[in-house]
Amino acid sequence: MSFEPNQNLTNFSVTAEVPSNIALVKYWGKRDPERQWPANDSLSMTLNAAKTITTARVVTGTVDSLKRQDQSGRLTSMDQSDKALRHLAFLRRELGMSGSLELTTRNTFPTGCGIASSASGLGALTMAAIGAWTGAKNLDELEAAGFNGERLAALARLGSGSACRSFHGGYVLWTAGNEPDAQGVLQVYDQDHWQLADLICIVSREEKAISSSAGHLTAATSPLFRPRLAGLPERMRRVRAAIAARDLDALGAQIEAEALEMHAVMMTANPSLKYLQDASCELITWLRNEREARGLPAFFTIDAGPNIHVICSQADSDKVATRILAAFPQVTIISDSTGGGPTLTGRQLV
Ligand code: PMV
Repeated sequence: MSFEPNQNLTNFSVTAEVPSNIALVKYWGKRDPERQWPANDSLSMTLNAAKTITTARVVTGTVDSLKRQDQSGRLTSMDQSDKALRHLAFLRRELGMSGSLELTTRNTFPTGCGIASSASGLGALTMAAIGAWTGAKNLDELEAAGFNGERLAALARLGSGSACRSFHGGYVLWTAGNEPDAQGVLQVYDQDHWQLADLICIVSREEKAISSSAGHLTAATSPLFRPRLAGLPERMRRVRAAIAARDLDALGAQIEAEALEMHAVMMTANPSLKYLQDASCELITWLRNEREARGLPAFFTIDAGPNIHVICSQADSDKVATRILAAFPQVTIISDSTGGGPTLTGRQLV
């Protein structure tokens, strides 16, 4: 398709909606932080409901502005040291773009507590900014302007590693490759292959004290890090086989071991990081007991935060959520599922 660059960008507004993703095989630790080269391959499921919605517009003036809308609708202006604004400055330099941007952004979920807000946030910022600079009104036009999913993923990755996995729907593999420029992101299966539920159990809404960016840098100090890396190819093989066969029991065993192993690396690093809270551990223990004693068909995984992602079939998700809430009335559940990837909508303002 051909794409005529929009001449009137100041009257053009673009909205990117980029989903979060939950890693089934986790990215933890980097070979090269500068070039965002991960220590290992990772694989995630793209989510549907948990996403970041970012709107961008080119404005006259020389300063970018970014307002974040919180869950109650209140807007807060970010200062120029904000990670997202620094990534925006990087994109402008890297791509040779001109034009200051006015951005507003909101998450459909609480920020910074183990639902990958940096993945969807940096993904949506990258897509919205490039959409505004190019005047693209949809993903096809963005691709015709030279920005396909692969290129967007590579650019977003430099803001937040896990963001690169949010540019496809379904099940997405990020490969580390033999050198920083040989990294790849590919969709292993689309969302129709296997629809799973992710019941995101919010046990705490507090922002985590140590960001994942800072946490990654501690990973190699853990004595468990090398043994973990040695075992990951086999775990990846088993996770991929379980997804291929749509075998929840096989997948569940792997993702629970994987999440606990990543948290063991975190806790045994120097400095030691402890993202799990007592409430996280109680929920995990309860889930295992319910599964073993009463056959509840659900498994957990956890990101760099205290909240627990309970993975089960779509058919069982209401039953599983009801049982969790009966046992933990103080927990809030965001009911999510396998999602289809990002969208972009541009429109001319009158
Ligand atoms: O992309 P970052 O730097 O926010 O790191 C994400 C790390 C984990 O969420 C813990 C695991 C993952 O692969 O998403």
